[in-house]
Amino acid sequence: MIVLGIETSCDETAAALVTGDGEILADEILSQETEHAPYGGIVPEVAARAHLQHLDRLIEQALAKAQVGFDGVDAVAATGGPGLIGGVIVGVMTAKAIAAARGIPFLAVNHLEGHALSPRLSEGAANLDFPYLLLLASGGHCQFLIVEGVGRYRRLGTTVDDALGEAFDKVAKMLGLGFPGGPPVEATAKEGSPKRFTFPRPLKGRPGCDFSFSGLKTAVRHAIDALPPGPILEKDVTDLAASFQAAAVEAVADRASNALDAFARLHSRARAFVIAGGVAANQALRESLAALADARGFRLVAPPLRLCTDNAAMIAWAGVERLRLGLTDPLDFAPRPRWPLDPHAPRAQGAGVKA
Ligand code: KG4
Ligand code: ZN
Repeated sequence: MIVLGIETSCDETAAALVTGDGEILADEILSQETEHAPYGGIVPEVAARAHLQHLDRLIEQALAKAQVGFDGVDAVAATGGPGLIGGVIVGVMTAKAIAAARGIPFLAVNHLEGHALSPRLSEGAANLDFPYLLLLASGGHCQFLIVEGVGRYRRLGTTVDDALGEAFDKVAKMLGLGFPGGPPVEATAKEGSPKRFTFPRPLKGRPGCDFSFSGLKTAVRHAIDALPPGPILEKDVTDLAASFQAAAVEAVADRASNALDAFARLHSRARAFVIAGGVAANQALRESLAALADARGFRLVAPPLRLCTDNAAMIAWAGVERLRLGLTDPLDFAPRPRWPLDPHAPRAQGAGVKA
């Protein structure tokens, strides 16, 4: 079985081919970072046009790399939401056209389900059974999910304002470190003192698994405003980055501790804690969560970075898992800007509303 996956929900245009055994035959990705960098964030209209311009070529490249033609493809899966709707429409329409022309099944994949199932692709499905606990932390999402099975998710908590990656991006902007902000903030933090500024650890010590980062972001803003007039010194930038990152990591670890408890109450035998999303690249976060998981007898699973950030292999893989269960979609599927994985979770605010 070979599934073509298409991802266009944010600022990466991607196409991949994955087999039923989880072999990645091709994984093409084009980042629009340079298109959006001048604006300091993602511009939906710019993103949609770029997807339209590049998607066909990326699919051709993926087929060429995998050395299969369209007749070797058994199904086509595209991100059907949540995300920037212009981009989602481009991917879904392309996938529907291929499915209709070739007479093969079409699968509309929830982007978050792509992230949620990606560790079964990287580890091998046989090595990671359901259920497991997932922390998904990216520029648009920040939530704990219990992955109970394909299409079966329970959300334990989400952000009430900003996503974690978004907080890194906004702080980077304040410090003049560019976009996306996570990697430069992490690099800069290595040079600074995490103790110089005492920033809040939002929600620390409170029950539940929700996140909040806007107060932390505002505290960084106030600390910058309180510096002596004139350009910010390099030492101030490194100390601000280090102090911010330490506060953010400590806040996430506190929330994760509650999430591990909640998960263990529901599933006393399962012992896997997965982190995914772009922020999972952060070494300080990984170390802190690895120590926490270890202390609770959990195994921390972090898919390789290429599968942690947005990509089409995870969409193709979610397509494989859904196809096996017969969960295909009709060609009148309507793209969804919002699409919660857990329909029973209370409606959230901030970045949480998207998911
Ligand atoms: O998953 P992703 O590639 O795209 C989506 O947002 O869906 O995640 C990108 C986010 C950005 O906010 C970026 O600043 C953040 O992940 N990020 C990091 C690091 N690398 C990427 N945040 C903290 N530390 C990093 N090393
Ligand atoms: Zn994503």
